[in-house]
Amino acid sequence: MKFFLLLLISISLNVIANGAAPGDTQIAIETQHTALVIRVSKDGDPTIIHLGKRLQNGADYALLPDNEKHGEDYTKIYNSVYTPAGGRNLLEPALQVSHADGNPSSDLKYVRHETQNVADGVVLTTVFLKDPQYPFEVKLYYKAYQKEDVIEQWSSIRHTEKKTVRLQKYASANLYIPAQHYYLTHFHGDWAREMNPEEIPLTAGLKVLDTKLGTRADLFQPPSFLLSLNKPAEEETGEVIAGTLAWSGNYQIQFEVDPLRNLRLIAGINPYASEYMLAPDKEFVTPAFLFTYSNAGKGQASRNLHRWARKHRIPQGEGNRLTLLNNWEATYFDFNEEKLTALFKDGKKLGVDLFLLDDGWFANKYPRNDDHTGLGDWQENKQKLPHGLGYLVKEAESAGIKFGIWLEPEMVSPKSELYEKHPDWVIKLPNRSEYYFRNQLVLDLSNPKVQDFVYGVVDGILTKNPTLGYIKWDCNAVIYNAFSATNPNPSHLFIEYVQGLYKVMEKLRAKYPTLPLMLCSGGGGRVDYGALKYFTEFWPSDNTDGLERIFIQWNYSYFFPAIATCNHITDWGKQSIKFRTDVAMMGKMGYDIVVSKLDEKELAFSQQALQTYNRVKDVIWKGDLFRLVSPQTNDIASVLYVSEKQDKAMWFSYLVGNRYREGSQAPIKLRGLNPEKNYKILEVNVYPGSNSPINRNQMVYSGDYLMTVGFNPSVDARRQSVVLEITEGN
Ligand code: DGJ
Repeated sequence: MKFFLLLLISISLNVIANGAAPGDTQIAIETQHTALVIRVSKDGDPTIIHLGKRLQNGADYALLPDNEKHGEDYTKIYNSVYTPAGGRNLLEPALQVSHADGNPSSDLKYVRHETQNVADGVVLTTVFLKDPQYPFEVKLYYKAYQKEDVIEQWSSIRHTEKKTVRLQKYASANLYIPAQHYYLTHFHGDWAREMNPEEIPLTAGLKVLDTKLGTRADLFQPPSFLLSLNKPAEEETGEVIAGTLAWSGNYQIQFEVDPLRNLRLIAGINPYASEYMLAPDKEFVTPAFLFTYSNAGKGQASRNLHRWARKHRIPQGEGNRLTLLNNWEATYFDFNEEKLTALFKDGKKLGVDLFLLDDGWFANKYPRNDDHTGLGDWQENKQKLPHGLGYLVKEAESAGIKFGIWLEPEMVSPKSELYEKHPDWVIKLPNRSEYYFRNQLVLDLSNPKVQDFVYGVVDGILTKNPTLGYIKWDCNAVIYNAFSATNPNPSHLFIEYVQGLYKVMEKLRAKYPTLPLMLCSGGGGRVDYGALKYFTEFWPSDNTDGLERIFIQWNYSYFFPAIATCNHITDWGKQSIKFRTDVAMMGKMGYDIVVSKLDEKELAFSQQALQTYNRVKDVIWKGDLFRLVSPQTNDIASVLYVSEKQDKAMWFSYLVGNRYREGSQAPIKLRGLNPEKNYKILEVNVYPGSNSPINRNQMVYSGDYLMTVGFNPSVDARRQSVVLEITEGN
C-alpha cells in the first residue's frame, strides 16, 4: 500500500514538477518587474513556461515546470510560443498556412535567438523558428521596455517555397498564462457611448474579442482588455495583464481556457476575409501586441502603459499640447468668414491657443452643407470662404491664436467630383447596391494612387498654409461591401487598407514631425496604439455630457494617458459649466461652445480655469494617474494625478449619483505621494461668488497622513465637482 502511494506521488510529481531537462534552452525576456520565459525542448519545440513576476535569480527559471497543472498535454504544445496548425495541435492556432504544394500543416522548430539593446532601456529578443520540411520561417520579436514594464510583441513570416503560400491565420502574439481563475474586462460601445466595461470569468473554451468593421474598427469593441488572474481585477492589488493590439483595422483576440485550465491568448489581425498570399522571399510583418503585467492591480498596469506611451509611442508624448476652441457644435455646417473671424476673437478672449475649423469648409460642385455631399473635394467652398483658408489662417493669427482644420481624407461622398472622376478608387462591390454609413463611402487605401491622393490633399493644404497649426483627422464610415477594383488580391483589402493608411501617415510624419494631429473617428472609433504612433491625441467620444464623460474618460484611462485624451467643454449635458470644465481638465482641454453666449460669471470662470490649467497641465499630462474612487460602484468619482517628483498633484472629484445626501461621506485616501513630504491643499476652479470650505483654513498635511487617513474633498449636491491642487510646502 505504502509502495503504491509513493509510486502515485512520484508519478504526479513527474507530471507537474519537471524543470528544464538536459539540453533544454531557456530564453528569458525581462523588464524591471516582469518576465516572459520561453523554454526550448531538446526536440526544438519552443514553449512558454512563465509569464508574470520576474524572479530575482535568473537561474531559478530552470526549475519552472513545463506546465503548472496536473493533467496531460497530449500534444506538448498547448503552451507553444506560436502554435502551428495542421499537425498535432488540438487547440486554437497562431499560424495556419497552406504551403505552395497544398500541404495545410506547419511545424515550427527553434533555430536560434538573439538579443539586442535597441535603445536606452529597450531590449529586443528575436526568436528564429523554421519548419523542418519547408523553407518557411517565422521570427518572433519581443521588445522589452525595462523601466515601463511593457512588452511589445510581433511576428514576421517569410518563405522561399516555389510558389505563393496562403496565410490563413498569422497572429502577432501567442501567450500562455497559468492561474486558477481568469477574469476578463473587455469594453464595448457604439457612437457616443464608447468604452463600457464588462468583467466576466473565463470558462473552459474560447472567448473572442474581434472586429470586422474595417476602418472605424473599434466602434463596437476596442482592441484593449484587462485580464485579472485568480480574482476579479482591483485597482491597487492583484495580478493584472493589460493588453492592446496596435492595429487600426480588423483584429481578433482569443482567450482559450485549455484542458489544463491554463489560459492561452492569441492576438492579431482578424483572419476574417483576409487570406494573405505570401510570395516567395517577401516578408509579412504582423502588427504589435502590447502588454504589461502588474501585481499591484489595474492602477499599476495603467501607469506602466501611460509611461510607455508618453516616452516611446505617442508623438511629443512628453511635450506640449494646444488648448483650442472648435466650431463644430457652435455652428455645425452653417458658417461663413464673418462668423468664423468673430469666433477667433472669442477664442482669444477665452484664452485658448488655437481655433479649430471643423467639417463643412470645402467642396463646390456639391457643397458640403450637410453630411451627404462633398467628401473628397478638398477645395475651399467659395461661398462660405471666398478668400480661402490662407485668409482665415492670417485672420486667426492676427487675432492672436493659431488656426487648424478638420479633414476626413479617407472618405468620399457619393455626390462628389472625386467619386465622379475615380469610381474605381471607392470600396464597393460592382454587383451590389451601395450601402452607406453616415451617407458616405470609403476610399480604397490599398491602392497606391489613393495613398498618393490622400497624402497630396494633406500635404497640399500644409504647403499652401505653412503656419496651419493643427489637423483633426476624422473617419466616420465603416467598410461595407468590401472589394477593391484595383487590388489583384481581393482578400488583402482589409490588411492593405491599414498598411496604406500607415504609409500615408509615415510620409506625413517624416515631413511634418511636430504637427499636432487629432485622431477622431466619429468619436472613439479608432483608438489604438497603431494609429497613436502618428497622432498626438485622440477624440474619445462625441458624447461630451459632463457626467457621461467621467465614465468614458475613466475607461480610456486604463490604457491611454491624459496628454492624448481630448476633452472638450460643450453644451451637451445639463451640468454647470464648472462641472463640465472640471471634467474636461482631466486630459487635453478644449472648448466647443458659443463663447458669446456665456454670461459674465461663466466667462470669468472659464478664463480663470484656462489660466489654472496652463499652470497645472503638466501634472495632469505627465503625472502618474491614481483612480481613487470608481464611478462604476460609487456615487462619486475621484481621480488623482501625481507629478513624477511627487511635489505636485491634481485631484478631481465628482458627484455621479443624485440620491439624497449622496457625496463624499468620508476622507478619501490619496496615493502616490511621498509619505515624508508635507503638502498644502488648495481648491481651484472655485466658481465666482462661491466660497471654498477647503480654502478657509490652510493646513499642512504629511504625505503619510493623506495616504493613511485621507482627506474629504467635500463633494455633495451643492459641490458637485471639486478640483484640488496639492503642492509640496510647509
Ligand atoms: C464626427 C466627429 O466626431 C465630430 O467631432 C465632428 O468633427 C463631425 N464628425 C463632423 O462631421
